Amino acid sequence: MASKRGALIVLEGVDKAGKTTQCKRLVQALQQSGRPAEVMRFPDRTTTIGQLISSYLEKKSDLEDHTVHLLFSANRWELVPTMKKKLEQGITLVVDRYAFSGVAFTSAKPGFCLDWCMKPDVGLPKPDLVMFLKLSPADAALRGQFGEERYETSAFQKVVQQRFDELMKDTSVNWQVIDASQNIDGVHNNIMDHSLNAINTAQNLPLGELWK
Ligand code: TMP
Repeated sequence: MASKRGALIVLEGVDKAGKTTQCKRLVQALQQSGRPAEVMRFPDRTTTIGQLISSYLEKKSDLEDHTVHLLFSANRWELVPTMKKKLEQGITLVVDRYAFSGVAFTSAKPGFCLDWCMKPDVGLPKPDLVMFLKLSPADAALRGQFGEERYETSAFQKVVQQRFDELMKDTSVNWQVIDASQNIDGVHNNIMDHSLNAINTAQNLPLGELWK
């Protein structure tokens, strides 16, 4: 009998919501409970494509808006063989941002619609669970200043939040909204509960294709 596959779990949210901290906490907790798990993040800045994206985000280079959108998508596609292999080996992947960030951030720019932005990511491995860490702009401001990278302004992040709200209307994706204004342990406990459910359900189901 083939071994049971791992689950594809994604954390999304606006900046300052605590995604990166929570991804690490979740992987640690899963590993400690004897479930193989690894963290991944997009953009993956270590690849050749990822380096182009990183330089753009750090404002060291400029790229045309459609072009950079397609590079973000290509950066996910280049990791798909690795992701599939790990999932088949029974490893649960906890992913810090995915195609939803791709669509929310580009479609927050003038002249872009959700539909065009979604197209390049159609058919990616479909997450078994997407948790959206929700934080009000007021709570985000309490967590300090935004960084220096591109997109890190409160005006832009407000539009990004609206685009995420649109994406969350799609019931073909298993969205769960997490109140990220709680303390770190509270958020972690919520995330762990949803993740254990998703891992149990996913092991008996084939991996789906996103937005198909
Ligand atoms: P990071 O701070 O999590 O490394 O994310 C880098 C930035 O890139 C963040 O502002 C969100 C943005 N982004 C996109 O614009 N498109 C994408 O596809 C992804 C994954 C992130």
